[in-house]
Amino acid sequence: MKGKVEFLYLSRQDIENLGISMKEVIEAVEKSFREHGLKRVQMPPKPGVHSRPNAFIHAMPAYVPQLEALGMKWVSGYPQARKYGLPYIMGLLILNDPETGAPYCVMECGLETAMRTGAASAVAFKYLAKENAENLAIIGLGEQGRWQLIALNEVMDIKQVKVYDIVKEAQDKYVKEMSEKVDVNIIPTESAKEAIIDADVVITACSEDVKPFIEKDWLKEGVLCLPLELNLAYKDEAIFSMDKIIVDDWPQTLEHVKLTGRKIPEPYAELGEIVAGKKPGREDDKEKIWDSNYGLAVHDVIVGKLIYEKAVKKGVGIKLVLM
Ligand SMILES: NC(=O)c1ccc[n+]([C@@H]2O[C@H](COP(=O)([O-])OP(=O)(O)OC[C@H]3O[C@@H](n4cnc5c(N)ncnc54)[C@H](O)[C@@H]3O)[C@@H](O)[C@H]2O)c1
Repeated sequence: MKGKVEFLYLSRQDIENLGISMKEVIEAVEKSFREHGLKRVQMPPKPGVHSRPNAFIHAMPAYVPQLEALGMKWVSGYPQARKYGLPYIMGLLILNDPETGAPYCVMECGLETAMRTGAASAVAFKYLAKENAENLAIIGLGEQGRWQLIALNEVMDIKQVKVYDIVKEAQDKYVKEMSEKVDVNIIPTESAKEAIIDADVVITACSEDVKPFIEKDWLKEGVLCLPLELNLAYKDEAIFSMDKIIVDDWPQTLEHVKLTGRKIPEPYAELGEIVAGKKPGREDDKEKIWDSNYGLAVHDVIVGKLIYEKAVKKGVGIKLVLM
């Protein structure tokens, strides 16, 4: 009806019930990296406000014309939320019609964020890991740490994954739950060093109150480091000892580096430029590569659209009237 606007509301449970495969999410995220690398997107650096120490809430708008994906994520990361039994990352993703601007979908964004962040690491693995990389380390075993393993398992032939969390119960719970979800040899370690020292790929997914602890000497030749928390978990000497620094978006990274007060060397490339074929990724098996994917809004609108289309096909969600 003319003048009427309705949007589909999807809860986390609705999205879980859709059974979207990680393979589909990785494909969508790879496309969004390519569009970003070809500079065919609109995506201003995400602004944030901070109502509590160590907490953020970010606005993440994006438009990808090639895929007609438009929208904005409004996402929080609050360490204190855990005290209330809530996840660290929460929020909403809104999708808008590129012709009229009308919102057509509003969804819970924690699950989408975890899936697309896992997928971003999987894309990085495809372009930046050394050949036959088989040993994985995951440090920080919360929500992201779970989805990182699910995503890496799609693209990496994992011989073993060594896992460490500073909280012993979190580590035990992770090993139990993830052993039921993925067919991978999961080895809990007593320290972060023990997990990292023989790893070909190191993923850190620690909460944002983490202090730098990763030493230069723990990182072996040919390593690929994938920090989810920007430059917070690595000591300066470790970051500055890398052969290649790659980020997902340099202007956005610079904005957030200002907040942490810690430095990152000028990057060799943005990951999208490598995915788009503008620059080579890994050039030999000895290079140490550090690739920080701090999170792109273009991933959210593309993965969000994928979720929406599945939901419509399956008749999932509640329709709400805007006007
Ligand atoms: N790059 C992105 O796109 C993106 C997206 C989502 C979240 N993140 C970041 O990922 C990180 C993890 O988020 P989450 O949702 O999984 O949080 P979470 O609270 O579910 O898990 C964080 C885990 O890290 C552990 N931890 C903290 N300090 C540690 C240390 N020094 N050594 C080992 N473990 C440690 C905590 O005990 C906890 O289990 C956060 O920094 C978040 O901001 C990044």
